[in-house]
Amino acid sequence: MCMVCLYKQQSHLLKLCTILLFSFTCGGCRNKIAGAATNMVPMRMVWQLVLLALVAATAIASADRTTYIVHTDASKMVELNSLNKQPREWYEAILNSVKKPEAHDDEDEDEESLAPELLYTYETTMNGFAAKLTTKQYQSLTDIDGVLFVTPDEMLNLHTTYSTHFLGLEFGRGLWNESSLASDVIVGVLDTGIWPEHISFHDRGLPQVPARWKGTCEKGSNFSATNCNKKLIGARAFLKGYEAINGQINGTKDFRSPRDSNGHGTHTASTAAGNMIPKASLYGMANGIASGMRFTSRIAAYKVCWDRGCASSDILAAIEQAVADGVDVLSLSLGGLPRPYYQDSMAIAAFGAMEKGVFFSCSAGNSGPIPSTVGNMAPWMMTVAASYTDRTFPTKVTLSNGKTFKGSSLYSGARKTNQLPIVYKETAGGIRAEFCINGSLSSTLVKGKIVLCDRGLNGRTEKGFVVKSAGGAGMILLNSPIQGEELFADPHVLPATTVGASAAKSIKGYYLQNKNLTATISFYGTRYGARAPVVAAFSSRGPSLVDPYVVKPDITTPGVNILAAWPPTISPTELKNDNRRVQFNIVSGTSMSCPHLSGIAALVKSVHKDWSPAAIKSAIMTSAYTHDNKQHLISDAYVTKSTKFATPFSFGSGHANPEGASDPGLVYDISGEDYLHYLCSINYTDAQVSILGRKKYSCPKVKKGQRLQPGDLNYPSFSVVFEAFKKGTTTYTYKRTVTNVGTPKISYKVFVEKPKNVKISVEPQVLTFKKLGQKLSYKVSFTGSGANITTRSGISLFGSLVWVGGHYSVRSPIAVTWQ
Ligand SMILES: *[C@@H]1O[C@H](CO)[C@@H](O)[C@H](O)[C@H]1NC(C)=O
Ligand SMILES: *[C@@H]1O[C@H](CO)[C@@H](O)[C@H](O)[C@H]1NC(C)=O
Ligand SMILES: *[C@@H]1O[C@H](CO)[C@@H](O)[C@H](O)[C@H]1NC(C)=O
Ligand SMILES: *[C@@H]1O[C@H](CO)[C@@H](O)[C@H](O)[C@H]1NC(C)=O
Ligand SMILES: *[C@@H]1O[C@H](CO)[C@@H](O)[C@H](O)[C@H]1NC(C)=O
Ligand SMILES: *[C@@H]1O[C@H](CO)[C@@H](O)[C@H](O)[C@H]1NC(C)=O
Ligand SMILES: *[C@@H]1O[C@H](CO)[C@@H](O)[C@H](O)[C@H]1NC(C)=O
Repeated sequence: MCMVCLYKQQSHLLKLCTILLFSFTCGGCRNKIAGAATNMVPMRMVWQLVLLALVAATAIASADRTTYIVHTDASKMVELNSLNKQPREWYEAILNSVKKPEAHDDEDEDEESLAPELLYTYETTMNGFAAKLTTKQYQSLTDIDGVLFVTPDEMLNLHTTYSTHFLGLEFGRGLWNESSLASDVIVGVLDTGIWPEHISFHDRGLPQVPARWKGTCEKGSNFSATNCNKKLIGARAFLKGYEAINGQINGTKDFRSPRDSNGHGTHTASTAAGNMIPKASLYGMANGIASGMRFTSRIAAYKVCWDRGCASSDILAAIEQAVADGVDVLSLSLGGLPRPYYQDSMAIAAFGAMEKGVFFSCSAGNSGPIPSTVGNMAPWMMTVAASYTDRTFPTKVTLSNGKTFKGSSLYSGARKTNQLPIVYKETAGGIRAEFCINGSLSSTLVKGKIVLCDRGLNGRTEKGFVVKSAGGAGMILLNSPIQGEELFADPHVLPATTVGASAAKSIKGYYLQNKNLTATISFYGTRYGARAPVVAAFSSRGPSLVDPYVVKPDITTPGVNILAAWPPTISPTELKNDNRRVQFNIVSGTSMSCPHLSGIAALVKSVHKDWSPAAIKSAIMTSAYTHDNKQHLISDAYVTKSTKFATPFSFGSGHANPEGASDPGLVYDISGEDYLHYLCSINYTDAQVSILGRKKYSCPKVKKGQRLQPGDLNYPSFSVVFEAFKKGTTTYTYKRTVTNVGTPKISYKVFVEKPKNVKISVEPQVLTFKKLGQKLSYKVSFTGSGANITTRSGISLFGSLVWVGGHYSVRSPIAVTWQ
C-alpha cells in the first residue's frame, strides 16, 4: 500500500514512494491506491515495507506530548475498505509512520513514552482519530495527504418544571396525547453524567427498550449495568481525552463512571425527558409537577464533563457513540470558543450527526448581554437562548427611610427578617469585603447585621455562606450594571436576596448618605403571572462572529430558575459546606434552556418520524412567538437606552411553541449537500469544505461573473449583510423553497415587516399548493445603501417575513447588519 504517497510535500518521501510504486507497478498511487496493491504483492507485506521506509525517514521527536484531533478524508478510507482494512488499522499505520524515528538513537532512552498513543478513532460522525503526539509527530502528520485537518484537543465548558405548562403543553392533548407519547424517541445527553436512582428516571409503565437501540450501560465506580432501566437505556463515560490533559481523575472527587457528581447532567437530562413527578419542589417553592418536556422519551447519558471541564476529543467520541447507539436527539449544554466551522470539532461532528438524521441541540452560552458572544452557531445546530417564565420568587427590601426595592430569592426560612443595621465594604471588613469573599468579613462588624455584597469574584451562594459564617444575619446581593435587572433566585443559606442594578445603586447611595440605615428583607415564596417571557441578560448574543449570514441564536426557551432533578449527594448551592440535600433544585443558564428545546425536538419527532433535522428545526423556528403574556413584544432583561425589547440577535425566531411546531404548515428543508454549497458560498476552500463533508469535495463551478450566494441557504430566517459606507445601493436576492406539510390545497400570502432604510420585495407574493409534500420557491430581494450609516461598529435593524394561509402563520425574522 502506498502510504508514503500520502505525504504531500517532503520530496524525499515522494521519491521513496515512487520507488515503492514502481517496484509494485503501483501506478499513480494518489488516485489509484486500491487497484495498486491488490493484484501485486500481498497487502500486509507492502504495508510493512512502506512503514519501514517511513520509520527511517521521519525526524526526531521532542518529548512533550499533546492530544490532537485528526480529521481524515473519508474517500481515502473507501479505497482502503476495498482492501479490507479497518479504519483503526489505517490510523495505527499512520501513527507508526510518524513514530519515533531512529531505532538506535541512544539519546532516546524514553522511547516508549514518545510513541504516539491512539485515544479514539472516529468513524460515524467524523472520520479520524485522537492521539497523543509530540510536536514533531504532529508536524509529520499534517504533511500526510488524506489528513484534512489537525487540531489540538481543548477543554470546553458547561453553560450552567413548570416550564412545560408555560410552553403550552397539556396532559392528554396534542403532543402530550396518548398516541404521540407512545412512540419511541431517544434523547442523548452529553453532560456530567446522571444519578440513575432518581425518581425522574424510574421506568414504571414503560414498554420494552426499542429493538433498534444499540447502546449499553457501562460499569464503573459506583455504577453497574443494572443502573440502567427502560427509562435510562444507556450510560457511558468518556475520559481518555480529559485525563490526557488533566491527569488521572481523582476517584474521591468524582466517579470514574457515568454517575453524576456535579448535578448539571442529572438536571439537564430530567429537563429534556425526565418522568412526570407530582408535588416536586425546592423547600416548597415552585411546588407542582416536575416533568421533562417529553417525559416518555428514553434517556441515554454520555458523561463527557468532569471537574475541570469537557475535553473536545471525549465529546467527539461520545457524539460518535451516541449516533451509533441510535439516539434521535442530542442535547449538549456546553461549548468552547467560536471558530470557523472547519476548525470546530463539535461543528464537524454535529454535521455528521445531522447527516445521520440526528437532531443536534446546543446552548447558546452565558456570555450576554455582550454582542457577538453566541457559541455553537453552525447552521446545522439548533442554538438555544434562555428566557424567564412568568414564575418568580419575589422578595422586598424595606429601608428605614421608607424606600422599598424588589428582588428575588429561594431562601426557605422565616418570611421576614427583623429591622437590622446595614454594613458594606469598610464597615463590614477588610480588603474586598464589598464582594464578601471568604476571609474578608470581620465577625465583630457583621454580627447580627445585613451585609451588602457586590456580584463578582466568587459565587452568589458562596457569598451568603461567607456572610453566615461570619455571623451576619442577612445579605443583599447587588447586581452590577452589566447584570442589569437580572434576578437569579438562589437557595441561600441565610436570609438573602438579589436586587437589580438600579436598586443596588440606590441602596448603596442611601447607605453612603446615612450609615445608620437599617433594612428588612421579606420573602413571598412562589408567584405566577409576571410578564413573560423575558430574554435573560446572561444569554449569549448574536450576530455570529464566525458567520454573519445566519441569524444566531435560533430560538429561546425557559432557562432561568428551572426546577429539575438533583443528585442526593450535592447541596442545592453546590457548596461543600452546605449540608442540605434536595430531590429537585432550581438553577439557571442556557444549559437549562437547551434540554427544553431537545425535549421539544423529541416531541416533534414523535409525530413526524420522517422529518429531517432541518425540517424539525424549521417547524420549531417558524412557529415561535415574539409577543409576551401581556401582548407586548418580548422584552430583554438587559435594558439599554435605545431599547428594552429582545431582537433576533438575542432570541432568534422567538420563543418556542411546541404545539405550533407540531403543525407548522410549511417547512424550510435543508440537505447535507445544501450546507456544503453554503460553505462554498462563504468562500471556504474545497479543502475546508472537505473537512465538514468528510470526503474530497469540489465546490460547484459557477458561470463567470456569478457566484454562489450565502443567502440561498434554505434557512428559516434571513440575515442580510450590507457594507457600511459603500456608495450607492446594493441588492441581495435570496432564494427559498418551502414544503407543504399542512393542508393539501392551500394558498399562502406573504406579509413583510421591513427594517428602516431597506427595500424588500418578494416574488411571487402568493404560493398556491395543490398537495402535501409539494415544494414551491420564492425570491426575496433586499435593497439598501451604506451611506446613512455613520459608525463602523456594526448596526443591525430587524424585520420579518410571514407566509399566512388558513390558520397557519409561517414566520421568519430578518436581521439586516451594516458592517
Ligand atoms: C395527538 O397529537 C398529534 C400532534 O398534535 C396529532 O397529530 C394526533 O392526531 C393526535 N392524536 C390523537 C389520538 O388525538
Ligand atoms: C453510590 O451510589 C449509591 C446509590 O446506589 C449511593 O447511595 C451512594 O451514596 C453512592 N456512593 C457515593 C460514594 O456517593
Ligand atoms: C484526591 O482528593 C482528595 C480529597 O481532596 C485528596 O485528599 C487526595 O490527596 C487526592 N488524591 C490524589 C491522588 O490527588
Ligand atoms: C473559607 O475558608 C475557610 C478557611 O480556609 C474554609 O474552612 C471554609 O470552608 C471556606 N469557606 C468557603 C465558603 O469556601
Ligand atoms: C447615627 O447614629 C449615631 C449613634 O446612634 C448618631 O450619633 C448619629 O448622629 C447618627 N447619624 C445619622 C446620620 O443619623
Ligand atoms: C467571497 O469572495 C468574493 C470574491 O473575493 C467576494 O466578493 C465575496 O464578498 C466573498 N464572500 C463572502 C461571503 O465573504
Ligand atoms: C437615508 O435615509 C433616509 C431616510 O432615513 C432616506 O430617505 C435616504 O434616501 C437615505 N439616503 C441614502 C443615500 O440612502
